[in-house]
Amino acid sequence: MTIQFSTKLFAQADFRATKNLKSAFALLVKQDSDCLVMAYSKADLVNLQGQTTGKGGSKKAHQRLNLGNLGPLAVLDSFLGGAILRASTFGDLEAKEATVTLLRADSSWLAQGVKLKRVLLVGLGDAQQKSGDDILGYAKLARSAIKALSGGAIETALWLMASFMEKPHPQRLGELARLTMQLAGDQVYRFGVRQPAMRFKVKDTPDPLKSFIFIGGGKEASALKIAVAEGTALVEGMNLAKDLGNLPPNVCTPTYLAQTAQALAKKTTLKVEVLDRKQMETLGMGSFLAVTQGSELPPQFIIMRYLGGKPSAAPTVLVGKGITFDTGGISLKPGDAMDEMKYDMCGAASVMGTIYAAALLKLKQNVIAVIPTCENMPSGKATRPGDIVKSMSGQTIEILNTDAEGRLILCDALTYVERFKPRAVIDVATLTGACIIALGSVHSGLFSDDENLVKELSESGKAVLDTVWRLPLDAAYQEQLKSNFADVANIGGRPAGSVTAACFLKRFTEKYCWAHLDIAGTAWKSGAMKGSTGRPVPLLFNYLVTYGAP
Ligand code: BES
Ligand code: MN
Ligand code: ZN
Repeated sequence: MTIQFSTKLFAQADFRATKNLKSAFALLVKQDSDCLVMAYSKADLVNLQGQTTGKGGSKKAHQRLNLGNLGPLAVLDSFLGGAILRASTFGDLEAKEATVTLLRADSSWLAQGVKLKRVLLVGLGDAQQKSGDDILGYAKLARSAIKALSGGAIETALWLMASFMEKPHPQRLGELARLTMQLAGDQVYRFGVRQPAMRFKVKDTPDPLKSFIFIGGGKEASALKIAVAEGTALVEGMNLAKDLGNLPPNVCTPTYLAQTAQALAKKTTLKVEVLDRKQMETLGMGSFLAVTQGSELPPQFIIMRYLGGKPSAAPTVLVGKGITFDTGGISLKPGDAMDEMKYDMCGAASVMGTIYAAALLKLKQNVIAVIPTCENMPSGKATRPGDIVKSMSGQTIEILNTDAEGRLILCDALTYVERFKPRAVIDVATLTGACIIALGSVHSGLFSDDENLVKELSESGKAVLDTVWRLPLDAAYQEQLKSNFADVANIGGRPAGSVTAACFLKRFTEKYCWAHLDIAGTAWKSGAMKGSTGRPVPLLFNYLVTYGAP
């Protein structure tokens, strides 16, 4: 049901070296596929026009391009009965950045033994767009090509990686292939199809695009193979996070999240443990328990372990906010768009998606995901503004606003994870509306005092277009959290709302290296295209792959 990614490697072929292009493309056109995707530049066009017709192209272009050599577009055209040249004569090929042109097979293709049914040509625009370092430029091209592939009759596609960029470092080539999978996964994701029980819209059908194959020569083989394994795991993890986020709150309850974790343990080497209310009471999680007490549904404290590293290796711990519905509690939210508060468990969904991806990829490191999950409901038993509770850390908290509940469940989870002696703890939460005001839906908010962790998370995010922006954690903001009656208040007023929320969490993380991600603006899209984005699974997954210690 989901898209399959793979590679087709031609050990002897080099799709970049001009001298062997003919034999390389001879192999390529014999592939039985619905569509070959190839990028081309303005220079390729000039080469095609000059070579194939024996004229055309300016004198200057002739000198520059050394037209004694056939470029890739011209070589491909020689198998396609001049279809590409025809398209360019008609003005359909101008190499404008991210424009696509679809060519369909005719009898002349067949006569030459071409098995491809279609060729999708993607304009590279200016030549410098060909650099492998231009991730945003590549993503723009890839997105428009993938859009053209999806939703129609195309079921299988071949992606000629080498045509998109000048010789990049093999690692960069792999990163871009993985990014392509991430974008393709986003394009073909269909909630109603993946969750048949939730197929309320009969119209929902799967995207026809089922098989996506990266073409490479011998030199690209190992980078592409690794990328396909990573990308496949990443897309699975993102799909899980999106599904959980999109599920309605009457289905995706705390118990449902716990059962989902247990089901993943059956499919992989993940070890899952779930603590119930009694156990939380014994641990002294008075802050978490205050949030759940207005709900009819039992809270769950989910611990997922992926132990792919040495037993002695300190784990990376991911903590995800799992409020399956946030009404605000007694400090009730206004009704507008309140349905979106089903997404208040996207932190939980993303850490579950990430650890699932780590398990699928069999990463050689230890990762632990911890998910405190419950509902935030008003009722006769609910916590009142003014209530004082004792957190697991021993600090007392005056709950001045029951809608600031995320930090109340996270603080006990952050104390709990001390026992793992983590190398780093990253918590992920749809924590504050103020973060949407500050950063919109572009960056997630990043808070940390550890310069190294800041650098690693920032870089990990950039490479997968799942970016973060650092916000402060200065001690001066702690002033706003002062309470007349307890050690700390759970709100700090309207100024710097995201910062004071992070400063509240910081008080519970002094024993280890820690970062907090506020994903309120990035975890889902509002409006007509409402839905979960799967963020920040790409960032977290890339962080583990790149920086997670053995
Ligand atoms: N889950 C919300 C934050 C949120 C709001 C995320 C809107 C996405 C969209 C959180 O529990 C909350 O209600 N925070 C309050 C904090 C305030 C009471 C200090 C907020 O942001 O208004
Ligand atoms: Mn809230
Ligand atoms: Zn919330």
